[in-house]
Amino acid sequence: MNQHFGDYQNEIYLDGLRGVPPTLPMAFTELEARAEAALPPSVWSYVAGGAGAEHTQRANVRAFERWGLYPRMMAGAARRDLTVDLFGLTLPSPLFMAPVGVIGLCAQDGHGDLATARAAARTGVPMIASTLSVDPLEEVAAEFGGTPGFFQLYTPTDRDLAASLVARAEAAGFRGIVVTLDTWITGWRPRDLATGNFPQLRGHCLANYFTDPVFRARLRTSPEEDPGSAVLEWVGLFGNPLTWDDLPWLRSLTSLPILLKGLCHPEDVRRARDGGVDGVYCSNHGGRQADGGLPALDALPGVVEAADGLPVLFDSGVRSGADVVKALALGATAVGVGRPYAYGLALAGTDGITHVLRTLLAEADLIMAVDGYPTLAALTPEALVRL
Ligand SMILES: Cc1cc2nc3c(=O)[nH]c(=O)nc-3n(C[C@H](O)[C@H](O)[C@H](O)COP(=O)(O)O)c2cc1C
Repeated sequence: MNQHFGDYQNEIYLDGLRGVPPTLPMAFTELEARAEAALPPSVWSYVAGGAGAEHTQRANVRAFERWGLYPRMMAGAARRDLTVDLFGLTLPSPLFMAPVGVIGLCAQDGHGDLATARAAARTGVPMIASTLSVDPLEEVAAEFGGTPGFFQLYTPTDRDLAASLVARAEAAGFRGIVVTLDTWITGWRPRDLATGNFPQLRGHCLANYFTDPVFRARLRTSPEEDPGSAVLEWVGLFGNPLTWDDLPWLRSLTSLPILLKGLCHPEDVRRARDGGVDGVYCSNHGGRQADGGLPALDALPGVVEAADGLPVLFDSGVRSGADVVKALALGATAVGVGRPYAYGLALAGTDGITHVLRTLLAEADLIMAVDGYPTLAALTPEALVRL
């Protein structure tokens, strides 16, 4: 289980010696530029864009630059242990793939959810599968291999439909439910507005609804016969402006671990904890939902303190192995990426995602080696200096 992720660099250098240079990018800036060239413009702007003038989105990334890791010498970090225990599962690393609706469309064959699940199987990096997928959740879960997967729920206004989605996820073998709270309504996104493009309204990525018995029972004609009416039905029930009064009901839906995604304020974390959740997920949706916000990384220490020992998942702005290490040092139990793996998928399918995940893990592992932090436990806030 204890893998040497840094060894990826040996593979790359040895291939180079054999005259086989890498075809996939090593740096995020190149990854991003090549993904832009590879994706249809409407998919690119949907994935790369954020809310408003994208200040929050940029701030997420820049926040990492304001922390520096102390190098420690003679720490004997010859073998690093990146394994992490999460809800009784032992994972080979603390990295995970954040839920990305429309990940399906980022693949050249239009089945990016399946390609992502296959990358999870290959790397041991768990996928949190979005409610908004091209392929139904059962087919996504079937590709996970031995890697645990999590299901992200956009809670619909129809409680029976919510219960059905969760029950299907349980039956399909998902190991936890991530309830996203920050997207019951879509934020103001100028890039998509400028082209009048919102993929779901065009009927994309609604497979989980269209295959659901509760959803189908609400329709007069099937989605296959009349997709337009099915999309309209979806529009009417997608977003549920939940309140804390709904938490006991959410909790009652499953005995699987349940996490709330989008928590940044310590008071919200305390309420979640009091409501019996199993983990909290600090994120501002990669800056896609509200501009003018604080970087998610700046919210992380307060979330960790209020979580008081509950696992804290984190995402938003992670672009490198160094960023992963910093988020861990600030108290995250596990660290997620969104856009980076979507870009890897756009370039080279499952191989592209696998490469992106391996580069992140290799860099994190090598930083822990060079800077003398042999275990995740050694990465504490004291390892960091505010710049
Ligand atoms: C194109 C796109 C679609 C997303 N769809 C979802 C989704 O369906 N559910 C969800 O909870 N978060 C969704 N997110 C947010 C991600 O889970 C994650 O919070 C964010 O991408 C992290 O920021 P990063 O892209 O800077 O890594 C989406 C993000 C992107 C880029």
